[in-house]
Amino acid sequence: MRVLLGVSGSVSCYRAADIARDLMRAGHDVRVCLTDSAAKFVSPILFETLTENPCLTDTFEEPITGQMAHIDWAREADAILIAPCTANTTSRLAHGVAADMLTTIVVASTAPLLIAPAMNPSMYASDQVQWALSILESRAATIITPQEGDVASGEVGLGKLAPNPEILEAVESVLARTQLLAGKHIVVTSGPTEEPIDDVRFLTNRSSGKMGAAVARAALLMGARVTVIAGPQAAALPLTATVHPVKTADQMLEKALEVSEDADWIIGVAAVADYRPEAATSGKFRRSEDALTLRLIPNPDIIATLAAARPKARVIAFAAEPDADISVAREKIVKKGVFAIAANDISRNDIGFGSENNELTLIRANGEPQFSGKRSKLSAALWLLENLAQE
Ligand code: C5P
Repeated sequence: MRVLLGVSGSVSCYRAADIARDLMRAGHDVRVCLTDSAAKFVSPILFETLTENPCLTDTFEEPITGQMAHIDWAREADAILIAPCTANTTSRLAHGVAADMLTTIVVASTAPLLIAPAMNPSMYASDQVQWALSILESRAATIITPQEGDVASGEVGLGKLAPNPEILEAVESVLARTQLLAGKHIVVTSGPTEEPIDDVRFLTNRSSGKMGAAVARAALLMGARVTVIAGPQAAALPLTATVHPVKTADQMLEKALEVSEDADWIIGVAAVADYRPEAATSGKFRRSEDALTLRLIPNPDIIATLAAARPKARVIAFAAEPDADISVAREKIVKKGVFAIAANDISRNDIGFGSENNELTLIRANGEPQFSGKRSKLSAALWLLENLAQE
């Protein structure tokens, strides 16, 4: 595979030469890009000699005349590792600032990103750097935590570049992950639905669509082609997925049936309204002093309908349970005819609806349940798909 190694200007950038070599020994084609400050510590010639590839620093460098290297290198990378990654480069990446060749390539690339921070312990502990790292992590970057030890300033603390074997292991596992769903088509339902009462009012629920977006992103990181049928959700969906916006449960089902013919996996993350008003009034009905009775009729069970219509697909449902009891979720596997259920406890306000985090229990028809532990929604989605893909 092709690994782009970004090197920024920490004293530890001398270790990047070994990292480049080790990646090559593992069979990867390595391209190196230096920031200006890294080029003050180490010469591009060192990396060109080691990797037998051009080593870029300047944004306008073009090893092949007329071909924009930042776009080619961004597209052709299977993974981007930045080791060492300084406070400056970390913050630029979090803000999407394309200020030099390295950050420009990262902004232009959809390849998974790994960051191995290396800096003075006070800088590493600063709010700015910790904020930047958490932003990058929420966008699926893998952060290779620095080790504790003596740093160049003579201090001891957390900020020393992680050991090389740890960095290499992280690259290998991210690269392996990109293949887990390669060639598969994954269809995801996401977000809430809106069930009209009249032309201005509707019934909906608290779903933010963050978990659906996380599942879509995780599937993309694992190499899948992803189609999302999304209710009116607040969370942004990845642009590399095909997104079909819908409003009602009926529209969601119709679209899901239309796009899932060749689906390998179907994942129901949407919080579909269980009921809808029997008849939506056109226009706006007027307020009066009389009580109003709204007759609700059940919506179709989208995921159960898909499971029956697409017997070859692996169908996974989510279950928002009001407590930690998983027996109800287990019954749903049979009732809905799905392969597995990812249950989460919505009685807790630190996970689930609207929150950045989730804690999933993966339940199959047989066998012991698996627990993700509390994590970011993206990390929970990766945990879920990795577990399921390995079967
Ligand atoms: O039965 P319950 O609503 O708890 O099931 C949740 C799962 O079923 C989720 O995967 C959800 O997307 C899906 N579902 C559906 N259509 C419905 C209700 C739920 O696809 N009408």
